[in-house]
Amino acid sequence: MVDPETLAPKERPLDLKQEGATHLFLPEHEVGQKGPAHRRAVFYNPAMALSRDMSVSVATAEAARQGHKLRVWDALAATGVRGLRLLTETQAVESVLATDQSLGAFRTLEQNAAREGSGRLVPRWHDAETAPERRSFDLVDIDPFGTPVPFLRAGVEAVVDGGMLAVTATDMAVLAGPETQTCLTRYGARAVRGYLSREGAMRILIAKIRAEAQVLNRTAVPQLSVIGGYHIRGYFRILAGDPTGEHGVSQVPFEGYEGPPLLNPRPSGPLWTGKLHDRNFVRSLPEIAHPGEEKAFPKLLTTLKSEAEVDCLFYHETGVLSKRLHLRSPPSRETIFEAVRAEGARITETHASPSGWRTELPLPRLEEIFRRIDR
Ligand SMILES: C[S@@+](CC[C@H](N)C(=O)[O-])C[C@H]1O[C@@H](n2cnc3c(N)ncnc32)[C@H](O)[C@@H]1O
Repeated sequence: MVDPETLAPKERPLDLKQEGATHLFLPEHEVGQKGPAHRRAVFYNPAMALSRDMSVSVATAEAARQGHKLRVWDALAATGVRGLRLLTETQAVESVLATDQSLGAFRTLEQNAAREGSGRLVPRWHDAETAPERRSFDLVDIDPFGTPVPFLRAGVEAVVDGGMLAVTATDMAVLAGPETQTCLTRYGARAVRGYLSREGAMRILIAKIRAEAQVLNRTAVPQLSVIGGYHIRGYFRILAGDPTGEHGVSQVPFEGYEGPPLLNPRPSGPLWTGKLHDRNFVRSLPEIAHPGEEKAFPKLLTTLKSEAEVDCLFYHETGVLSKRLHLRSPPSRETIFEAVRAEGARITETHASPSGWRTELPLPRLEEIFRRIDR
């Protein structure tokens, strides 16, 4: 039996896989392999297809916004599937520099670049902790296993002023607890615990990215924040200059905090308390077609669009409030939405939790509503 890793790229057996409207090669010996995806020689996780659908939508909106086709750096590219999808499924991209530190991944990237055939997918064997020598990318994607921290400096450096940086984090045991000490050393923050821990993770990551940008005299402005079960992903506009006069990072709860109840025994953060989304950017995101998976992306996008209109710090869970107030039974979502709107306030579902909702109405007034409904 020949080890495929020892073969030259052209001789290695490859399997063809489809995601979205894109075909890509995976080394054959890994397809269908059992066990955690990161044990494979070249990483490909079909469960992240929805996240890549979002990349396709974001790149489309971003090219329209920037007014030209994008030069992309897919910094931790693995098979190159993200960049490939941008090239095949949009008219938004001029070229993708696809880098990976693993030799196996680099070889697969070469195969996929050859298959794509236009010369616009450029594979390179490169350590993404350093920016490539050409540092003017309109869109940079940082999609690591675990923490993105080692790659943030290079990522921010490589984006043009006004361009976009996309960052995934999967170290949720750190960002959302319980690895408190690692969170302090890695992100300089204390995780939010309990039902709000994943939004807390997103906000700690945003604060970290803003701090990294500030070191380079730049500002990272959140455009879209996607909070998943096991990973979070933020899209940031990178601008020249310091975020002067802005106080978007603090510990929670701060004085006057009237948001959803926080369950930590002591303050958490510091974390980003500003907007998770740029409303206009989220409004501009197009729906995209994903053959074989028609429903998931439109559903996510619809929720995010609604949510970006009521962009407030943390979301409520009906169960948490009902328990806190010792209600006889939790009110239905329809009843809550109606009652909040009757007060002239906005309320929306949230993509972060199927049973959660966001409103700008302060906690004391919500509690009044809940008590009234329960009478
Ligand atoms: C989660 S995978 C990337 C998945 C890919 N973006 C996708 O959408 O399928 C992370 C990749 O980062 C690569 N990697 C790890 N450390 C790296 C480094 N310092 N520089 C470049 N690539 C690195 C790994 O080899 C792996 O292929």
